[in-house]
Amino acid sequence: MKRPLITAEDLQQSPDMVIPVGARLTPLAQDLLRKRGAVVRGRGAMPLARRLLIANWKSYKTVGEACEFARALGERVRPPTALQLVICPPFTALATLGEALRGVAELGAQDLSPHDEGAHTGEVAARHLLDVGCSYALVGHSERRAAGEGDALVATKLERALAAGLRPVLCVGETAEERAAGRAEAVVSTQLGRALANTRPTDLPRVVVAYEPRWAIGKGVTPTSAEIAGILGHVRHSLRQMAPEVAERVSVLYGGSVSPDNAGEILALEDCNGALVGGAALDPVRFSAILAAGS
Ligand code: 13P
Repeated sequence: MKRPLITAEDLQQSPDMVIPVGARLTPLAQDLLRKRGAVVRGRGAMPLARRLLIANWKSYKTVGEACEFARALGERVRPPTALQLVICPPFTALATLGEALRGVAELGAQDLSPHDEGAHTGEVAARHLLDVGCSYALVGHSERRAAGEGDALVATKLERALAAGLRPVLCVGETAEERAAGRAEAVVSTQLGRALANTRPTDLPRVVVAYEPRWAIGKGVTPTSAEIAGILGHVRHSLRQMAPEVAERVSVLYGGSVSPDNAGEILALEDCNGALVGGAALDPVRFSAILAAGS
């Protein structure tokens, strides 16, 4: 039987394609997979965690401003990019931005409802996010946890996202007090364990974990590279304990005051598969500089 041939174009159209055993890859397809962090051995390839650069715009940008960003970003980046770009705008800009970013970046929501569609005023359900082209949804961002969202609600949202076919980006991280008390690792493990308690190992590779120390968000300060590496390694260790066979396929990101100046060092850390960026992702010049630093 003839072995299937996979091209770079195939991989761009289906980023999550499982490469069949024995498939042949064109040289461009092999380069693309390597850039995405896959180990390409001989004629086969084993996809590992995706490298991601996710923009969280929080409560910034009108539809017009979002479109202007998309235009400026499109001028600066040439797909396929070394890190898969994902933009999470306010809900109101999702539909229009998805069109404007086609081929350049994927679309994510900043939150989702714990319910299916129904009589839940103000909630935006997974179904609505899929309808406007979202592939990702942030879950448990610290700004939502600070507004009262607990581990149980975070876990429900994560399950809802997975069930709908979205990739949840689970945000975890300690406060300054927890860190000062030497509890950063324990807090992160507890948040991970509670959010993923009901996640089947087969679904785990669709989960993205973002370590965002709460004291570093929007402050212009970051942990040292050694400290970030320590916690990301701890996250990977926890994932291995939960599901050893798939733990390496989970993308683990760092977030908290990532900028063009520190991105190169952070994105080169072992166990770091990308970044979740707030303030610096509002500006297409700074955001594409972060991409360049990690490429
Ligand atoms: P900053 O990059 O502005 O610190 O925000 C990080 C963040 O909260 C991303 O979700």
